[in-house]
Amino acid sequence: MKIDGKHYRTIWVSEANRETVCIIDQQCLPHDFHIMELKTVEDFCVAISEMYVRGAGLIGATAGFGMYIAALRAPKGKFDEALHKAGEALKATRPTAANLAWAVTRQLRAIAQADSVEAKIETAFNTAQEIADEDADFCRRIGEYGLPLIEEISRRKNGEPVNILTHCNAGWLAFVDYGSATAPIYAAHAAGIPVHVWVDETRPRNQGAALTAWEFAHHGVPHHLIVDNAGGHLMQHGMVDLVITGTDRVTRNGDVANKIGTYLKALAAHDNNIPFYVALPSSTFDFSLTDGVRNIPIEERNADEVRYVNGTDGKRALICPEETPARNWGFDVTPARLVTKLICERGVCDASEEGILSLFPEERQNG
Ligand code: MRU
Repeated sequence: MKIDGKHYRTIWVSEANRETVCIIDQQCLPHDFHIMELKTVEDFCVAISEMYVRGAGLIGATAGFGMYIAALRAPKGKFDEALHKAGEALKATRPTAANLAWAVTRQLRAIAQADSVEAKIETAFNTAQEIADEDADFCRRIGEYGLPLIEEISRRKNGEPVNILTHCNAGWLAFVDYGSATAPIYAAHAAGIPVHVWVDETRPRNQGAALTAWEFAHHGVPHHLIVDNAGGHLMQHGMVDLVITGTDRVTRNGDVANKIGTYLKALAAHDNNIPFYVALPSSTFDFSLTDGVRNIPIEERNADEVRYVNGTDGKRALICPEETPARNWGFDVTPARLVTKLICERGVCDASEEGILSLFPEERQNG
């Protein structure tokens, strides 16, 4: 993704020094574009838990680089122990996105294959890069597979703008590049198909307002910011042609965990016969689960995220009586029956065990 003409990924190893990993500080967006440096495992844990980085793919890529830094810093005599401890600390930062544990496990498996500490560090570096490169490549391919779905609606509308609704930020900021839900939108925009996006603000952290709107503005994609509760009204009035969201974890049978409020959008889309697509790279599948509502761990964050809004001056404003208690669930689960199709790096499939396994046959034996 380009910012002021320069291509950025959301995470990279510093060119000056292989012991430093750089991220775009997402707490500062949309008002400041600030690069932050991570040098210790603790830095990585804070970056994920405090959401300097966020979004399933980027959380996974950050954990991958965190394991590389853990390998670099591990005392020679206690290398394996230090690495496992780092893996546990990283996994404990946020519970819902499948990509986090997936990246830590991939690193531990790869590192175990190397036979000297030097080789293990080199393996950890290469694996972190692979995870990041793969994430970017898979998102690019999601764009290619999602594009015909938008093209087809555009043809039906005789070239009138295709109205897409999205929730939260499943853009390039949530991944290493391109994004998942946004990849087909960027691909359509690049292909000259007129698109217009309704961007849900996504309370309480406002990833739609702060991040998705910022991405689209930089990329020149026409959009409007809407309040979270507007989607149903727009759907009833023919102002939404399709919904595309990202996801943080998809079960073997196609249940979808995504930012809180997604389920309500899926219900409204179903009631109005509007296709509801979910885009994801394979690292977001959790093939071990078959009941998303019961089994996907849902993060509950600090209630103050609901009680306050942040101002541009760094101050926060209380929006309820001082003594009001609040609860703050970060995600909800949309049952597979409400999902029209999943868009993955290997193609488009039904949100069902059969549909998913038709794209990922190697997972059949793990059922
Ligand atoms: O809490 P976040 O910002 O890490 O939430 C993740 C998300 O951005 C959304 O749920 C998104 O749609 C899926 S992540 C690609």
